[in-house]
Amino acid sequence: MARYERSKAAVDVSTKRMTHPVLRGALALTLTLGGCAWDTPMSTVEPHSDYAHEILHVYGIITWVTIAIALLVGLGLAWVLTRFHERPGRTDLPAQTRGHTLLEMAWTIGPALVLLGIAIPTIEVIFRTQAAPPRDALEVTVRGHQWWWEFQYPALQIVTANELHVPVGRPVALTLDGPDVIHSFWVPQLGGKRDVVPGRLNRLTFTAETPGDYRGQCAEFCGTSHANMAMRVIAEPSDAFTRWVAAQKVQPPEPAAGPAADGKAIFARSACVGCHTIRGVSGGTLGPDLTTFGSRHTMAAGILPNTVDNVAAWIRNPAAMKPDAKMPALGLTHEQARAVATYLTGLK
Ligand code: CUA
Repeated sequence: MARYERSKAAVDVSTKRMTHPVLRGALALTLTLGGCAWDTPMSTVEPHSDYAHEILHVYGIITWVTIAIALLVGLGLAWVLTRFHERPGRTDLPAQTRGHTLLEMAWTIGPALVLLGIAIPTIEVIFRTQAAPPRDALEVTVRGHQWWWEFQYPALQIVTANELHVPVGRPVALTLDGPDVIHSFWVPQLGGKRDVVPGRLNRLTFTAETPGDYRGQCAEFCGTSHANMAMRVIAEPSDAFTRWVAAQKVQPPEPAAGPAADGKAIFARSACVGCHTIRGVSGGTLGPDLTTFGSRHTMAAGILPNTVDNVAAWIRNPAAMKPDAKMPALGLTHEQARAVATYLTGLK
């Protein structure tokens, strides 16, 4: 009894300290709506593949179920608050309920049913999206490196980095393989997250439905520049994809005399060749294949537009743009770095 009075007094004091309820409500609403945005490149509610539609389907069920639960609990709470609130002249505690068998059973079985209702469609979708890829699927091996993505097309004998081209309407079967630490391949508008684990082959199959440039991001903390490990999936109609494939197979032309030719000479005599492949020039495999580097829209794993200025700045000091980048600064002068950047961005 005395304890009840004391805690009641404490509640009164803390209520007075709070600001006006309308202000508090406005603050909560602002914070909540601040997290919403409709037209965002990493949105999971704008699906553009069969897989992403499956995920949205489960997400929809869970959202509506939880909204219904929130309404029920809210209404129940409102009823209890009005029915049993304190009345003038009444100082004793209302009758307490404990050990009520029916109630105990209800709030044990209720949540179990809710979980079951969510689990059944979730498991269905897991099985549907894990099915073996169809035979005509385009096979791509995805390798996660600190901190960039390598995409190998074994049947087409193409290797590229950070920008994955896929044809619209044809299933794409990714095999995820990782040479260093655990990464996670995630392109929200095309499918779910799938870990890239060294020593283990994971799979992910999806069919892009609409042409577009879809943003992705490594979704497993993999070191200092985890946040700088982005990627793009460029889904294009099959004729555009065929043209892209053909362009990737062509030997890059010899650069014309001038900065590009100087850049090639600097590249060929520098440590660059130990890490990067450019067909006909070098055969390194530690860093991205640069044979058709100039055909990519972005550089450094999707973090910057692929321009001569950005590439030159990167060559001068990679770690300044991407903390802990594995590529060392090679000690090239500003002019040398610009020449190499001119050469590389011309490779298309
Ligand atoms: Cu790779 Cu995070």
